[in-house]
Amino acid sequence: MVFNRMYARTPTPLFLTDDYLTGTVAKENNQSEKNNMEFFLDTGDVDEIRAAAAWGIVDGVTTNPSLIAKTGRSQKEVITEIIDIVDGPISAEVISTHKDGMLQEARQLAQIHENVIIKLPLTEDGISACGILSTEEIKTNVTLCFSANQALLAAKNGATYVSPFIGRLDDVGHDGMDLIEDIRTIYDNYGYATEILAASIRHPTHVRTAALMGADVATMPYKVMKNLFSNPLTDRGLEIFLADHARVN
Ligand code: G3P
Repeated sequence: MVFNRMYARTPTPLFLTDDYLTGTVAKENNQSEKNNMEFFLDTGDVDEIRAAAAWGIVDGVTTNPSLIAKTGRSQKEVITEIIDIVDGPISAEVISTHKDGMLQEARQLAQIHENVIIKLPLTEDGISACGILSTEEIKTNVTLCFSANQALLAAKNGATYVSPFIGRLDDVGHDGMDLIEDIRTIYDNYGYATEILAASIRHPTHVRTAALMGADVATMPYKVMKNLFSNPLTDRGLEIFLADHARVN
């Protein structure tokens, strides 16, 4: 794996002109102008979402049918409750496998709230539905992405987000981060505005590497987000500061 830091988030052409520096070129390339890596929680558990939201770093939430099933509640009920907790993009996945069914579900889900993002599987029907929904200005998250070519298809049909599954690639002996790097390069080559949402994140190192690669968003379980804070040197350093303060006060 090579960290392609120079390429990450850099629009082509690579000339350091005033236009480039003031962002005009970025606009012309339809390049996302965001300069913030967003953190989404990957869960349907509203207690976890409330706890993490208190940290002030949760920008959105992703769910999938497995995560919703764990709650024992309906998707609509869970999504509606999440919307009241987090004011940001909330991904809700369709169940249909055929385009017409996907479109019907997507339009219903989109009516719940403007923050609802329609999660579609990276299949022929899913990509086709993505193209139609993007003309209706319904935001989409194309999920179950395991290759750069699949990510290219999602961008070509106007996906708002693409979700490469890093952890599941690692599970079968690949390096999921190579995929993030490839997608970043391809999207920057053509100025696609589709955001790279690093998904299936299993540990803090995935978050760090996704940030180095220039992923726009990292979605992670509550446990991983909580672990981002922790470092034994911080704990030990604080103990020493407090002990020193207590000795003279
Ligand atoms: O929400 C999609 C993705 O993040 C699933 O992760 O851990 O089930 O591979 P995981």
